[in-house]
Amino acid sequence: MPQETNPSRLVVLVSGAGTNLAALIDACTDPAYGARIVAVGADRNDIEGLARAGRAGIPTFVLEVGDFDQRSDWDRALTDVVAGYEPDLVVLAGFMKLVGTTFLGRLAGRVVNTHPALCPAFPGRSGPADALAYGVKVTGATLFVVDEGVDTGPIVAQTVVPVEDGDDVESLHERIKVAERAMLVDSVGRIAREGISVTDRRVRFGV
Ligand code: GAR
Repeated sequence: MPQETNPSRLVVLVSGAGTNLAALIDACTDPAYGARIVAVGADRNDIEGLARAGRAGIPTFVLEVGDFDQRSDWDRALTDVVAGYEPDLVVLAGFMKLVGTTFLGRLAGRVVNTHPALCPAFPGRSGPADALAYGVKVTGATLFVVDEGVDTGPIVAQTVVPVEDGDDVESLHERIKVAERAMLVDSVGRIAREGISVTDRRVRFGV
């Protein structure tokens, strides 16, 4: 188990506002949390997530898919950069790209993603909008171990949020994100301090 003097190394990947990243940065200021963010990566420039990391003095990198001939080349480059930081855990926190087979081959079991819906419902890029359109009364967020599917991996944690009568996509997503950040901070801290084991899709903290 990592000691306070030897915190788990996190690499966090983002694509936007980075409020989940910001919550992790804040949590990591407490040595008892058991983790430190060694790098933040993104698939685009000029996003608040990168700025927030920069203000915290965390190294950042950007790899845009469009700068590579093929998607698989981008995936290999992303893998090399992320693996170079020797992460114990990679957190996809609002990273709006699917990582590929090279990435998962090298980092298998060490990558988690947070999704703004209760998996297996409403996978993909528009979880809050799809939940609202379907008319569900509760939705939420899911943290899962990334596999080769779209939001299909073994579930680490879920948090439930009510859908209110007056909700639009933005108000619903903002309510989800409040609960999501708390779930992410709690679960990543537990993974850092205790580890996780996965048996037949069932995830438990501790090894
Ligand atoms: C979060 O709600 C995250 O679950 C979602 O993007 C938001 C990012 O917020 N990710 C996905 O929809 C991935 N399918 P943030 O940039 O403020 O952390």
